[in-house]
Amino acid sequence: MASCEKGSRSECSKERASHERMIHDDVKDYYGKKLQSSADLKTNACIAPAKPIPAFIRKALKDVHPDVTDRYYGCGLVVPECLEGCRILDLGCGSGRDVYMLSQLVGEKGHITGLDMTDKQLEVARKYVDHHAQKFGFSKPNTEFVQGYMEALEKAGLEGNSYDIIISNCVVNLSPDKTSVLREAFNVLKDGGELYFSDIYSSSRLPEEIKSHKVLWGECLGGALWWEDLVRLAAEVGFSPPRLVTASTITVDNKELESLLGDYKFVSATYRLFKIPKDSPRKGCQVMYNGDITGCEKSLEFDCHYTFKENEAVEVDGEVASILKQSRFAGEFSFQLDSQTSCCAPPKEISVNPFELEEKMKSGGTTSATGGCSGAQKSCCQ
Ligand SMILES: C[S@@+](CC[C@H](N)C(=O)[O-])C[C@H]1O[C@@H](n2cnc3c(N)ncnc32)[C@H](O)[C@@H]1O
Repeated sequence: MASCEKGSRSECSKERASHERMIHDDVKDYYGKKLQSSADLKTNACIAPAKPIPAFIRKALKDVHPDVTDRYYGCGLVVPECLEGCRILDLGCGSGRDVYMLSQLVGEKGHITGLDMTDKQLEVARKYVDHHAQKFGFSKPNTEFVQGYMEALEKAGLEGNSYDIIISNCVVNLSPDKTSVLREAFNVLKDGGELYFSDIYSSSRLPEEIKSHKVLWGECLGGALWWEDLVRLAAEVGFSPPRLVTASTITVDNKELESLLGDYKFVSATYRLFKIPKDSPRKGCQVMYNGDITGCEKSLEFDCHYTFKENEAVEVDGEVASILKQSRFAGEFSFQLDSQTSCCAPPKEISVNPFELEEKMKSGGTTSATGGCSGAQKSCCQ
């Protein structure tokens, strides 16, 4: 939207609302009518090559109905560790592939809510609620699907401070108002909760001619955030600084669209943002992972910088220490104050630039992190 510099405040907000409605309608049309299955996508943005998928996730995916997986348009793997018993919200769940995959991993005592604004997508998702509950051997479904906008979660009927984890797979880029998406997500997360999401990011802020192209927007490129803007918005909303999990290049593979994109580059990246109470202490310390998370017995790949090996002391800065202490991971670690880091160690300078990570991964400089587990999950959320 062109900037609304000359109009009055109320004119500007009307203009903004009408611009947002137009984008929502275009995106609904794209995912409700234009696309019938993943095969109809015009670029490879929504189906970016995934990292090797751990066996337990492959198995969980195999048990999702093909009518659901046929309409999968995600760009990453949104499976954080320690899921059993958790209450999860999937923003822009589409036909429900990730909801049904995670339904198995949270188990019967956990619960997943899928939220989407497009009726056609929800129709497919809802059709298979009972089918999946039966297939997974649950006495009643642990999934539900809600129609609504991710920019207005409470309006959609979702309760504040009620989710352990929010996931989202290639959806935030489609929003005309990313600040509201992050703010609403923050509000419905419990303290210590986490937004774990995969999305498309650009190498710099995109110009109006790319942002206003309907196909580029629908294909998850036109609305991509510059990754530095994600860092800024997360801080504005109150999240702890983003932790980067993994990144992979988007090649587009469509000559006509590539020529419109010029030198702008895109990656699919997975970040984790934690909601940590502002007043909790942020003192560096030594932590030791107890190796108790099923499937991550040997090591827990927390992000692209920290892999915690079982029973091995690791010095972490105040940010990481507070995340581990205040989140569902608290019971999985022991914490020892380290005199060297407790008083004055500044937060570690850690790059969260997905383009840099992607380069490093290509040259073999770091391992990929897909959540780091290889087996079924153990209860972390009660
Ligand atoms: C690229 S698809 C991804 C769907 C799903 N996450 C998957 O992996 O298959 C984007 C989905 O987000 C939904 N969506 C886009 N903007 C939305 C918004 N503002 N609020 C709710 N849902 C939205 C669309 O309806 C569509 O189903």
